[in-house]
Amino acid sequence: MMLLACVWTVCVVHGVVGNLQIYPQPHGLHASDKFEVYLSQGGQKHKSFTYITKSDPRTKENSSAKPHRSMSWTSFAFSGAAVTAEIHTPTDFHNCIVRPKSYNYHCKKTGSKTAEVVIKQNTKMMSVEFDYDYGSNHGDITDKFLIFADAPETHVPDKNDNSVLYYGPGMYNFHGQKELNHNIKEVYLAPGAYIDGGFRTSGGSVKIHGRGVISGSTYTHKDNRFQWALVLMDKGSHHTFEGITLTDPEQFFFRGLSDHNTVRNVKMVGAWTYNADGIAIGHDGVVEDSFINANDDALKLYSDNLNIQRVVIWQSQNGGVFQTGWWTGRDMQKVRVNDIDIIHTDWCAFKGDNCHIGGNDAVFDQAGDTEHFDVHDMVFSNVRIEGSCPRVIYFKMHTGAKGSVSSIRFENWSIESQPIHDNLHNEIAGTSAGGHIANWDFHNFKVGGRCISSPRAGDFVIDSQHASGIKFSCGENIVG
Ligand SMILES: *[C@@H]1O[C@H](CO)[C@@H](O)[C@H](O)[C@H]1NC(C)=O
Ligand SMILES: *[C@@H]1O[C@H](CO)[C@@H](O)[C@H](O)[C@H]1NC(C)=O
Repeated sequence: MMLLACVWTVCVVHGVVGNLQIYPQPHGLHASDKFEVYLSQGGQKHKSFTYITKSDPRTKENSSAKPHRSMSWTSFAFSGAAVTAEIHTPTDFHNCIVRPKSYNYHCKKTGSKTAEVVIKQNTKMMSVEFDYDYGSNHGDITDKFLIFADAPETHVPDKNDNSVLYYGPGMYNFHGQKELNHNIKEVYLAPGAYIDGGFRTSGGSVKIHGRGVISGSTYTHKDNRFQWALVLMDKGSHHTFEGITLTDPEQFFFRGLSDHNTVRNVKMVGAWTYNADGIAIGHDGVVEDSFINANDDALKLYSDNLNIQRVVIWQSQNGGVFQTGWWTGRDMQKVRVNDIDIIHTDWCAFKGDNCHIGGNDAVFDQAGDTEHFDVHDMVFSNVRIEGSCPRVIYFKMHTGAKGSVSSIRFENWSIESQPIHDNLHNEIAGTSAGGHIANWDFHNFKVGGRCISSPRAGDFVIDSQHASGIKFSCGENIVG
């Protein structure tokens, strides 16, 4: 027996097999005109509202947006038995795939313009891709489509609590970025809440959470009603930002350079413009179980004691995936990055085979004129890069830079492929002014399934005068 219960218009389908929560449609918002999705958990099918963000409005401004792109997505929550997503596409296809490939989910054609994906676990963020639109070096995927399968919410605040800003399902326009007053401890965006605007903290410790959407689509690139990001948590500390989807930002998606902040289960979509950076977080920051589509740096590694795990990244045409640069000094230790799926690196899309890319385009990247370094103890483990990645490591200190970058470990990387290219290589360089690179370990760093055991095998150009102890090793870990 099945019971369909709707509380505040979130419909929970309770059955013997688990529970599936269909999120409501924000009243008045247009659904995707590319994809439709129906969900079932062993029973009746329910339509799941599919959002869309388009690049075309951004092409009118000077922000480098490529025309005729769209990104559609749907979100829901479930626990228990697997959920089947039936996807209706705009064009018929023969084959389709699900990324990250590490999920091991399959896309199956079940009819004309219809596919099915069985989602076995929650807290998954995936891209479903169709063979009429797989993308290449001559253009990225035109109409992108994502599915976000959440875990059920564990805490929903009381609407009448004075310390809570509560947004139920519906559309809200802030005409800019709302500054949160000191007495606000919690901001809640229910499933189906859709905000044109953003938030910034003014101090204290704030939790912004829920399953709603925050959009920057009605604001021009770098609109001066915003400071930096759709959500800015630079003031205060110990903030939490959880469960929300951010779309089409005017600049960064999230910046919280204050300390002890947590970003969890956040989705960032519609990175059309330059400066659409993903997450910049301060010391003792945590980022986990999140999805980032960035068109500038996806993750800024700027501070001590960062813990980043289970993040799925779609890197668009611009920016580094893990970026340490831009500022004049970089002083940082104890950074841990683990279990990362980079499903696209689109730097060469639109540029053809012999593509030239900027100095800020690589998976691990140091860009800009940083003059002083004191960086040590970073570990990047279990990083999987799908497709052809134009450049993995580009860490060249700016001429005249001083200081050291040492004890960096890259363990268990798998790069599907990196093209052999005349002018694009992995590069590591210090400076004759006193910039040293030392003791970088690449352990089980695989390209095309083959473990790299020498710089040459991995197409690395290493400045041997100012970089020492760059080692490549393969096989079992040596303990002790
Ligand atoms: C567009 O932006 C670029 C880079 O910021 C700048 O060089 C150029 O002058 C701008 N063009 C216009 C028309 O504003
Ligand atoms: C790297 O992979 C091996 C084999 O799967 C595993 O034993 C090891 O723990 C991994 N390393 C890290 C840092 O997760």
